[in-house]
Amino acid sequence: MKKLWNGRFKDHAAGWIEEFGASISFDQELVMEDLQGSLAHVEMLKECGIISEDDADQIIGGLKSLKAKAERNELQYDVANEDIHLNIEKMLIETIGPVGGKVHTGRSRNDQVATDMHLYLKKQVEAIINEIEIFQEVLMVKASGHIETIAPGYTHLQRAQPISFAHHLMAYFWMLERDKERYQDSLKRIDLSPLGAGALAGTTFPIDRQMTAEKLGFSDLYQNSLDAVSDRDFIIEFLSNSSILIMHLSRFAEEVILWASQEFQFIELHDSYSTGSSIMPQKKNPDMAELIRGKTGRVYGHLIGMLTILKGLPLAYNKDMQEDKEGMFDTVKTIRTSLKVFTGMIDTMSVNVQRLWDTVKKDFSNATELADYLAAKGIPFREAHEIVGKLVLKCIEEGKFLSDVNLEEFKESCPLIEENIYDVLTPEQAVKRRNSYGGTGFEQIKLQLKQAEKALNKE
Ligand code: ARG
Repeated sequence: MKKLWNGRFKDHAAGWIEEFGASISFDQELVMEDLQGSLAHVEMLKECGIISEDDADQIIGGLKSLKAKAERNELQYDVANEDIHLNIEKMLIETIGPVGGKVHTGRSRNDQVATDMHLYLKKQVEAIINEIEIFQEVLMVKASGHIETIAPGYTHLQRAQPISFAHHLMAYFWMLERDKERYQDSLKRIDLSPLGAGALAGTTFPIDRQMTAEKLGFSDLYQNSLDAVSDRDFIIEFLSNSSILIMHLSRFAEEVILWASQEFQFIELHDSYSTGSSIMPQKKNPDMAELIRGKTGRVYGHLIGMLTILKGLPLAYNKDMQEDKEGMFDTVKTIRTSLKVFTGMIDTMSVNVQRLWDTVKKDFSNATELADYLAAKGIPFREAHEIVGKLVLKCIEEGKFLSDVNLEEFKESCPLIEENIYDVLTPEQAVKRRNSYGGTGFEQIKLQLKQAEKALNKE
């Protein structure tokens, strides 16, 4: 088959070599962006008088008919035409004749592909931001219903201090808030037009880059044509922002998996977010959470892949850069589906309030309350810590908890302890009294939810 770049060639590559070099199997994902970019380019060529109105109108008509076909999924791609750009140009020429070849006036595939990628990523990042917000709203609603649900808080996965379950959920809200801000900030660098950079050096045609940028909805232009065609750091930034986001999701997933286990039983996942076992009839597995935890690996992999591809590449375009796409597409898909699945999973899970409650009643996570109680009575905290530590050890040896210690025994440990200690030791008091800003105290959580509401409405 005749290539669009065949002039200086005497021979042609075997089909399997062509296939190795081709990207059409995956870059067809960019078809809409490619058509959008070409339309803006041709309109500009027309308005700048670089091609005749008549030629431009024919090309615009051809591109629009291809767009309509693309929307109906009717375009037939050919691997012999290598990539989405050459496939579309070839189809255009087949549709309207040789005048279609004028679409590539003053342009190169190098600025064309970069433009497509910027358009694509801008749209996807905006969608991701929106999906993060939907998840945040679900977290807020869940948290609002569990302000007074007391749960064990952990450090080292050992019971540490009781907390409100809402507080735990809201910790993820704020991680997501920062993830969202990172994506928002990155838009500044994605929202740039490389179009008009040509192959690497600009063009001799009197093009208007500002005009194409405006037509495509970009806020600004790349200032250097070499940089415009060889920059992929906007993709690296996307992959690294996505790596941080999915790391957060993975931590949350791990907790969901623990919470749903027989050992914890803090939550029950809805059947629609769980699977059974083909052999063990009793099983209800948290597959979705496990998968999200697992998918973290591929997102990190794509980040490392992209960093490695660019490392040491001389300016400007190199074919290595064709490897920028699959990781980006896969990351977009992974992040978007993971967010959606997680949102539904949290929305539909039920929280085992009684179990959480029973758990905090039978542990030593109120030991800090006793130490703080003594410190508040003027005993240096370090001494208070020692007194309580000894008492905890005694309780463990006698098989009881601090609330089972009678007043006489308490007074043996420290004569300053009074009857009101029993109230102080209850989990609800332990939570309620942690009223420092950002703490787990009920009043603080209510304030936190207000701040969260503000953060969500700020844009
Ligand atoms: N398919 C190519 C890519 O994705 C498009 C740019 C090709 N440019 C070139 N000079 N071969 O990178």
